[in-house]
Amino acid sequence: MGKIRICVAGATGWVGRALVPAILKSEDFVLTGAVARRAAGRKICDITGIPGNETTVTASLKEALASGADVLIDYTSPSAVRTNVLKAIENGVNVVIGTSGLTDMDYGEIDRSASIKGVGVFAAGNFSISAALALHFSEIAARYMKSWEILDFASENKVDSPSGTALEMAHRLSGAGKPNLEVPVDHTAGYRESRGATINGIQVHSIRLPGHVLGVRAEFGSPDERLSISFDAGAGPEPYIEGTLLAARKVMQMKGLKRGMDLLLDL
Ligand SMILES: NC(=O)c1ccc[n+]([C@@H]2O[C@H](COP(=O)([O-])OP(=O)(O)OC[C@H]3O[C@@H](n4cnc5c(N)ncnc54)[C@H](OP(=O)(O)O)[C@@H]3O)[C@@H](O)[C@H]2O)c1
Repeated sequence: MGKIRICVAGATGWVGRALVPAILKSEDFVLTGAVARRAAGRKICDITGIPGNETTVTASLKEALASGADVLIDYTSPSAVRTNVLKAIENGVNVVIGTSGLTDMDYGEIDRSASIKGVGVFAAGNFSISAALALHFSEIAARYMKSWEILDFASENKVDSPSGTALEMAHRLSGAGKPNLEVPVDHTAGYRESRGATINGIQVHSIRLPGHVLGVRAEFGSPDERLSISFDAGAGPEPYIEGTLLAARKVMQMKGLKRGMDLLLDL
């Protein structure tokens, strides 16, 4: 089998700057496209300092896909990702979505388009192994505990809220049923907003402060006992690279949308 041809949208970003060198150094991938606006026109080998790949960064995905790609990996921005994903599907290209900010409605549309086109799309709110474990353990806990809420931590600069990691947690925990709420949120006396957003029937509380990078904590309560399951990322992008590349290998065999890094692990 030949190498898997990868196009990276967001090639010069915080994640992209670590992802592109990992692709260039891998044995089973070849980079055929790179998207970013400010670096458009520059060669990837000049940006990374790694010789041997003549791909030029383009501002538009359309141009980047013209060189041929099996998989688009998107790490751009909440405002760019939906259009990019639908464009790739339209071109018969499988997609790995790292970018956060898509809603369940967006994912529904993406799933329908990918199924019709017969391509695979894999999305994970968090591609790190420890976040995948936190998700998996939380799903187990939700089967046995009575109530749960989600705390979402990120840096002061994060524009989307809640984070993709927290949204994915809410999406998955909703599969375990509704958490018990003794006082319905709408019956809150005082400030209703202090109870957070209700997402998939679960209260999600987003905290944006300097000193945080990205974390999520599922808080579970049953009469007279409580359980916390939390994940905290450090300052570097390394935790997301291995999971993203694993997804790029596996998405080639998928049809339609699949979500959640834990699905790719043998848990
Ligand atoms: N799922 C996960 O595990 C995970 C992990 C980390 C981050 N994320 C998410 O991934 C996304 C990217 O994160 P990041 O920290 O790498 O962001 P970043 O540093 O801001 O990088 C964004 C990249 O996308 C490009 N870009 C943005 N908008 C674009 C557009 N409209 N057209 C073309 N290129 C565009 C940027 O270059 P130009 O601005 O020059 O165009 C840059 O290369 C965020 O949504 C973040 O929350 C997810």
